Formats: sequence, structure tokens, C-alpha cells
Amino acid sequence: MKVFRTANLSDIENIMKLEEKCFNKYTREEKKVYIERIEVFSDGFVIMENDKKFIGTVSSEIWQYVPNIDKNTFTLGHSIRNQIKLEGDELYISSIGILPEYRDQGFGEELFFELIKNIKSKYPRVNRGILLLNEEWKYARKIYLKNNFKECTVLHGFFNADDGTKKDGIVMRKDIL
Ligand SMILES: CC(C)(COP(=O)(O)OP(=O)(O)OC[C@H]1O[C@@H](n2cnc3c(N)ncnc32)[C@H](O)[C@@H]1OP(=O)(O)O)[C@@H](O)C(=O)NCCC(=O)NCCS
Repeated sequence: MKVFRTANLSDIENIMKLEEKCFNKYTREEKKVYIERIEVFSDGFVIMENDKKFIGTVSSEIWQYVPNIDKNTFTLGHSIRNQIKLEGDELYISSIGILPEYRDQGFGEELFFELIKNIKSKYPRVNRGILLLNEEWKYARKIYLKNNFKECTVLHGFFNADDGTKKDGIVMRKDIL
């Protein structure tokens, strides 16, 4: 049976194993970043399990909407504690990942829906969404485009690929979440 629940500190080892399978060494967050995310905003950190097996996670923050994009707000390793505004109106989706063996079965999109449902019920002021993705993350991009996120800014060369080349970051936003 599929279960969605908020993360707690006992999930950290599974979260870090997933991080390794999802992102390259330049894009992976350190354990302390995930620990802080759980401690500061577990409502925005959803775990998906199937028959008690860990499948994937999505994490997020609430920000106060500002029209201009500041690329420093997306920096790897940034502290959620310094950036979160629980009274804000914009949901920043910081990471989503599904273990490789469970991909392409609709779980990623389901997890994404569950996060938004959870946040909207607990933080009704939140009515916008924002995220940054690597131009190469084509499956995540599909989920966001299908759900009416629009590409609004390109951060040229924001990401590093394994071979040392630079890849663009794409900021996507949705005005009515
Ligand atoms: C992005 C990610 C979470 C999607 O999870 P998922 O469970 O595979 O997603 P879904 O099954 O809901 O599929 C989403 C879309 O991608 C397509 N897709 C996913 N995996 C695919 C594959 N291996 N081959 C072809 N299409 C695939 C699905 O068909 C679906 O497209 P559709 O809406 O047109 O049908 C997962 O691929 C992942 O963890 N990737 C690595 C981490 C990552 O890139 N995170 C994004 C950070 S922003």
C-alpha cells in the first residue's frame, strides 16, 4: 500500500542514498542540509513509501514572493532556516527524487501532487510555486510543464555536468498553485 508522510530524522540514511542515485557530485546536497530541512520544515518534506519500502521524497520551503529572480537564493547548501518565511505565499520546491527502480510509474507526479495538497491545506496563503531545474532533467521538466509551471528565467551555466561542462538552470514558476 502506498503511503505519504512527512519526513523525520530517522529517514536521513534513505534520503542520502536516494540523493546519491539522483544527482551528480556537483549537485548533491550534504546531509546537514537535509537534517536542517527536516528540523525546520517537515510539513514541506514528504516521503513516499510502498508496502513500507522507501520510494522517494520531495522537499520544499515557503518563500515570500518577489518578482525578480535572485540566483543566490538557489545556491546549493543554502540554509532553509535563513530563507524560509512561513507567512509567505510562494512554495519553493527544492528537490524531488524517486529511486531508479520505481521510476516511470507515475510516482514522481503523485508525490508532487501530495506535497502541494499538504501545503495548501496547512498554509492556505501559499498560492504560487517556484523551482529551479537543470536543463537535462527532462522527466522532472515534463511533470512541471504538464502542471502549468512556466519557464521564466534561464541561469546560464548554473549547473556542472560530470564531464566538466556547464549546464543551464531553468527557473520555473506557477502563479496560481
Ligand atoms: C524526476 C523524477 C522524480 C520523476 O519520477 P518518476 O516517478 O519517474 O515520474 P513519473 O513516472 O511521474 O513520470 C513523469 C514523466 O516522465 C516520463 N518518464 C519518467 N521516466 C521515464 C523514462 N525512463 N523513460 C521515458 N519517460 C519517462 C513519464 O512517462 C512521465 O511523462 P508523461 O507525463 O508525459 O507521461 C525521477 O526521474 C528522478 O528521481 N530523477 C532524478 C532526480 C531529478 O532529476 N529530480 C528533479 C529535480 S527538479
